[in-house]
Amino acid sequence: MSLPAEDLAPAPLSVVLREGTRAAHGEANSEQFVEELLSGALDRAAYADLSAQLLVVYEALEAASAALAGDDRATSLVFEELTRVPAIERDLAYLYGPGWRAEIRILPATRAYADHVREVGSSLPHYAAHSYTRYLGDLSGGQIVKRMMKQHYGLGEEGVAFYTFPDIPKVKVFKDAYRAALDGLGLDETEVATTLDEVHLAFRLNRAVFGELAAIHCGNAQAV
Ligand code: HEM
Repeated sequence: MSLPAEDLAPAPLSVVLREGTRAAHGEANSEQFVEELLSGALDRAAYADLSAQLLVVYEALEAASAALAGDDRATSLVFEELTRVPAIERDLAYLYGPGWRAEIRILPATRAYADHVREVGSSLPHYAAHSYTRYLGDLSGGQIVKRMMKQHYGLGEEGVAFYTFPDIPKVKVFKDAYRAALDGLGLDETEVATTLDEVHLAFRLNRAVFGELAAIHCGNAQAV
């Protein structure tokens, strides 16, 4: 008996990434810094420090988006409404005050993450991996983070602009469209494998940043 053709078709990229990184996701969100930040055990300074790290990562990611916007295949994955740098800058101005640029401290793991994104960001599978890891995460767990930051650290809408997407009225609809864009990139088998590997790397790079943040902000953390 032969299998129906759809059973032989390769899984769509969005499914490969979601299924292939479930364990990595679990590890990332059980990082000490993440757990303590979300449970209210830390303080606004820890949240502000995280926001500062995000600035540098998104500057690199969104420089890659701008460079790829004219690329035939990549352009479907570049969404204006995801742009986060201006929102992070507003959060930092609120959290640190008007002199925020001189106040923020960028950690070595953050530099390494941003440098890596700048290095590989012009390759479509690599760009797709970094875009997926950050933006779909922000639209998913990020919404939980936003609620918890407001609840635990007395923030109003000001200070959590990063987690607010004013041009995305229905997150679920947008996430479906984003996944469809991923699936429509037309990546071949090798490129899909490259993308999955790169998402794993992106999770590790995020965890390294959380590790350095934990060393600074978590009471019983080991020194870096
Ligand atoms: C802060 C703790 C976190 C929580 C509570 C959390 C929670 C979630 C939840 C509930 C979803 C599923 C949403 C849905 O079904 O549509 C999700 C998806 C996702 N998260 Fe997280 N997450 C966290 C941290 C992270 C981190 C650190 C990253 C990576 C930097 C990340 C990346 C992702 C990605 C890429 C998805 C999309 C999975 C997919 O549907 O393909 N998350 N997260």
